[in-house]
Amino acid sequence: MSYEEHASRDALTVIHDRKSVREFTGAAAVPLDALDAVIRAGMAAPTARNMQPWEFVAVTARETLDRLCEGLPSGKMLAAAGAAIAVCCLPEDAHLQRAEFAVIDATCASENMLLAAEALGLGAVWVAAYPYEERMAHVRSVLHIPDSVIPLNVIPLGFPAGPKPSQDKYHPEKVHRERW
Ligand SMILES: Cc1cc2nc3c(=O)[nH]c(=O)nc-3n(C[C@H](O)[C@H](O)[C@H](O)COP(=O)(O)O)c2cc1C
Repeated sequence: MSYEEHASRDALTVIHDRKSVREFTGAAAVPLDALDAVIRAGMAAPTARNMQPWEFVAVTARETLDRLCEGLPSGKMLAAAGAAIAVCCLPEDAHLQRAEFAVIDATCASENMLLAAEALGLGAVWVAAYPYEERMAHVRSVLHIPDSVIPLNVIPLGFPAGPKPSQDKYHPEKVHRERW
């Protein structure tokens, strides 16, 4: 699919086309305006009481991507990614200063970012940091994130190595009408 075809899809099509991409060409750098567009989409997400208790660390340096990769056992695709964004939760800024709200809000931001990546023709995947203590410690250490901040995930970004279909996860039996 060409860039124009990617960019012309409507919202529902992008939602259903989104898939986790773990194989990147490894060649082309991710354009900075695309990285910016992904982060802007994250910040457009809803947050409890509109508190926006998140911050983002954008990474493009090869050395930093490789160091992140070393401590994230389920993030080996970082080795071929052109960029990554660590989505971080700030419990002190969240509604009722509750970490749960910070995590929920940053999760909404993350999904917006995954959808934005799909819309831009980039591949992306959620690599878990939270709730694994050792993975959060690793991300904090590599990216100099304060202890009061929860690194929720790292989202590697790159150009997909090849086409990958999305899954159909619609299960009508999981939908209850009027009552369970
Ligand atoms: C909370 C969460 C944690 C995840 N952690 C990882 C991860 O560490 N590594 C990874 O490759 N994928 C991870 N994923 C992606 C899921 O494996 C993926 O969304 C799921 O298999 C469905 O595939 P799809 O995204 O292509 O629809 C995570 C997704 C979520 C929502």
